[in-house]
Amino acid sequence: MKGRQILVVDDEPKMRRVLEIMLQKMGHRVLAAGNGVEALALFQANSVDLVITDLRMPEMDGIELLAALRAQASDVPVIVITAHGTIETAVAAMKHGACDYILRPFDIDVVELAVERVLNGAAVAQQNAFLRQEIERGWDAFVGTSEPMRAVYELIQRVGPSKASVLITGETGTGKELAARALHHASPRRDKLFVPINCAAIPADILESELFGYEKGAFTGAVKERVGKFELADGGTIFLDELTEMPLPLQAKLLRVLQENTIERLGGNRVIELDLRVIAATNRDPLESVREGTLREDLYYRVNVFSIELPPLRARVEDIAGLVEHFIVKHGHSTAATRLTPRALERLRDYDWPGNVRELENMVERALILSGGGTLDEQHFLLNPRAADNKPKPATASAESQKAPPPLNQAVEDLEARLIDEALAQAEGNKAKAAALLDISERTLWYKLKKYRPDQS
Ligand SMILES: Nc1ncnc2c1ncn2[C@@H]1O[C@H](COP(=O)(O)OP(=O)(O)OP(=O)(O)O)[C@@H](O)[C@H]1O
Ligand SMILES: [Mg+2]
Repeated sequence: MKGRQILVVDDEPKMRRVLEIMLQKMGHRVLAAGNGVEALALFQANSVDLVITDLRMPEMDGIELLAALRAQASDVPVIVITAHGTIETAVAAMKHGACDYILRPFDIDVVELAVERVLNGAAVAQQNAFLRQEIERGWDAFVGTSEPMRAVYELIQRVGPSKASVLITGETGTGKELAARALHHASPRRDKLFVPINCAAIPADILESELFGYEKGAFTGAVKERVGKFELADGGTIFLDELTEMPLPLQAKLLRVLQENTIERLGGNRVIELDLRVIAATNRDPLESVREGTLREDLYYRVNVFSIELPPLRARVEDIAGLVEHFIVKHGHSTAATRLTPRALERLRDYDWPGNVRELENMVERALILSGGGTLDEQHFLLNPRAADNKPKPATASAESQKAPPPLNQAVEDLEARLIDEALAQAEGNKAKAAALLDISERTLWYKLKKYRPDQS
């Protein structure tokens, strides 16, 4: 990505010059300002793709400049430069909407990487992805006025303002993340960050450094220090999604964080005090997970100060019509032109909804395409006939196994468990060998065995 216009702000002429040369070498055009006021004037008079600013400057500092840019409703990406030992200010700047930081002294590789990442949007996928997501996603409100949902809203309003930990349970797609955000928004922390982290989506060995951050040199590849999610959530809310997927040793560390309100970055020995509100979620039965040994009992009690259970969609079919309307509008159609026939509604009410609201949204999106945006009738909904031909049935294990296909993570887990069995058989029960066959660490195998085959671990 070349040929962009970058505004460099630094009160030291030498630093400005160095950056200017580096950026020009990368093929960009550079505007240079010696202070925030000058920078704002240049910004208003030119089209600027990226701002790189020093944080410590006399008169208007980097954070004030950021605030002034944001006040003009500008979402120009901003990278801040900060000296070693003042990383806290970089964190503060990120909380004000900077998308990355560069530690001084820097060399051209570091600048190049940061600039490239920001300009092609990859920075979003990095450390502070949530910042952008939060802004872009806004906050989606709950739809549905059924009795069970009203009980949920009431609980959210009651528990939201406190600092108490909350454990949210419910089947997949029932709105657990939505509830977590609603709790954050109902709290005095709403102006601070809501930092989600999905314990199931991040490899076990990376999860710890994602949460705790690390100091430079903490491990191979830790070329500079990184702030973890806990620190970023300071003053706000950290959302630990799929808590039961967190490795047990890390659960023990998490428990300590909750008890002591402090963390230490990996490879560091400085104790950092934090003010965190923790919300966790799982689509498993948490007590079952405690019995299976995948969720520490003490952690369960610590997080489960309050619990909110989201009802499955099949238990509140009266919400379906309203949800369908909501998704019709969400996907760019009008409810005046696009109506749901009574017959279609009846079919939707009879369906099982193993994927709950998420499944309904996907179904509506598909139906809108199939109907060309006109009336939504029965044939536009591709309901699984086996699940739909009976009236709703209790969610027993046998009813569960009748509906195809199983949720993706269930299918993946079944496959994983089978591969582990095969590897163990091939290795004649030797776990080290089995782990090698599967190309995973022994530790990972141990976790997985504990999860799938507790009798063998
Ligand atoms: N009551 C609701 N009203 C409107 N939209 C909803 C509602 N419940 C869920 N959704 C939407 O359905 C989708 C799934 O919700 P969410 O991600 O919160 O589910 P989840 O319980 O976290 O699922 P999973 O366990 O699979 O992570 C989201 O797009 C969310 O906005
Ligand atoms: Mg979720």
